[in-house]
Amino acid sequence: MPFNITTPLYYVNDKPHLGSVYTTIICDSIARYRRLKGEKVIFITGVDEHGLKIQRTALEKKIKPKDHCDSISNLFLKNWKEWDISFDKFIRTCSDHHKKIVVQFYERVKNSGDIYMGTQKGWYCVGCEEFKDNPDNSPTMKCPIHNKNLEWKNEENLFFKLSKYQKNIESLIENPDFIEPKERRNEIIKFVSKGLKDFSISRTNLRWGIGVPDYKDHTFYVWFDALVGYVSALTLNEDNNSIENAISTGWPANLHLIGKDILRFHAVYWPAMLISAGLDTPKKIIGHGFLTREGQKMGKSLGNVLDPNLLLNQYGIDPVRWYLLKDISLGSDGDFQNRRFVDIINNDLANTIGNLLNRTSSMSRKWFSNKVPLNVNDKDTFISDIANKAVKNYIFNFDNYKIDLASNEVLNLAININLYLNENQPWTLIKDKDNYKDVQNIIYNVLEATRIIGLLLEPLLPTLSNSIKEQLGTNFNSNKTWIDQLEWGLMEKGSILPEPSPIIEKLEYE
Ligand code: MSP
Repeated sequence: MPFNITTPLYYVNDKPHLGSVYTTIICDSIARYRRLKGEKVIFITGVDEHGLKIQRTALEKKIKPKDHCDSISNLFLKNWKEWDISFDKFIRTCSDHHKKIVVQFYERVKNSGDIYMGTQKGWYCVGCEEFKDNPDNSPTMKCPIHNKNLEWKNEENLFFKLSKYQKNIESLIENPDFIEPKERRNEIIKFVSKGLKDFSISRTNLRWGIGVPDYKDHTFYVWFDALVGYVSALTLNEDNNSIENAISTGWPANLHLIGKDILRFHAVYWPAMLISAGLDTPKKIIGHGFLTREGQKMGKSLGNVLDPNLLLNQYGIDPVRWYLLKDISLGSDGDFQNRRFVDIINNDLANTIGNLLNRTSSMSRKWFSNKVPLNVNDKDTFISDIANKAVKNYIFNFDNYKIDLASNEVLNLAININLYLNENQPWTLIKDKDNYKDVQNIIYNVLEATRIIGLLLEPLLPTLSNSIKEQLGTNFNSNKTWIDQLEWGLMEKGSILPEPSPIIEKLEYE
């Protein structure tokens, strides 16, 4: 089965924000890594287009919901292309394709006897599209996430018997690998231990949604509809639009990567819906943290929302990826600070990695006729041991979704190699002819370690990784897989080194 990884399906009330770019970049790096390891990957992303929030946004703009959705969905697609996101499927929940799968899914749940008509009363947050737990304790009746007033709802809705799946969900979340990080898992365990309540899966008075068969005044609750998007995405552009076909293509998902605010939907409601529909539950859910800006929550009312497009235009893809992947531990909250951003890019990428490549390549070209040294002592294993260890740790961390740690392995390898260079001072040694052999060894070791650094950067910083490879002029045996290329010593001795140029520009403080 392919490795199936998903981002959330983003609401189209607005263009992509830094939070959506963050999740999508993480998924992209994992998808690239798995592909490089030789796995078949299905990387799903898309948009969540129904519901009251979208209906109201379109109304405010005085356009039809469908037209609004078309324009924002196109913007998402355009943005992901600009960010070079390697997604395989982009699902739109207002497509006919998706609607058909939602109806099939509903029929399965209904046939399990899990749907009934009831009355839904409660306080609703339109921003979250969610009834809020405990409004009595909230002095303001405001959603803590959106800081907007909750709305009282009292309507006839169809309900899903979530309570029936109490035991199933308990045993699912007992597995420590199912929800990460640990703290988030504990929150879910606590929530489930209070007893699961049935939840409504349809709305009356909401026109912008998928119609429920047999109930002409009802549309599906936007979350019921959207979660099924992970399944409907699988058969996108295929003639056989059935759940069975979708499932055989690549279900269950190996990883739903989402923000911590929507963990309940993914770790509790969705698995129960799937069990009811007779389908497998996802293997893992990671709830990542929230990004703040200069220590403050980002929000329109605060006027401090950081537009990812500005970052993209100003700095390019790789610097932003490096900051988000290396500086924030997946699962923890992260803060975007301009000064830190500039410092990290300059220190890590320009000074440590870029400079290492540049100066070594220059030395090698100068002393060895524009080539990689030819006579190398393969028994000198000091550097190869360091590099092999870094590769091993990197793979272990990437396999376990510790992307920040994997990134740091690459950086630390570069730091260690720079130290080795400084300690050995080939620029001094070369002055004495007797040292010629030693210098060849040192330079080869450094170039070879740089080749490995370039390879390890591929899922993290695809563009920079390519530049490194180009500058090393390495013609790899195309039969070799990425993993095999990570083996020490494959840099061809005596091969031509192209003229070096900086692989990354230093950034200035704005
Ligand atoms: N449409 C639902 C998801 C349905 S999945 C079947 C939704 N969409 S969203 O656009 O509001 O949010 C998408 C993701 O962005 C969520 O995972 C959310 O956690 C994340 N983020 C929103 N603000 C964020 C930050 N400030 N920082 C990081 N992620 C943030 O929810």
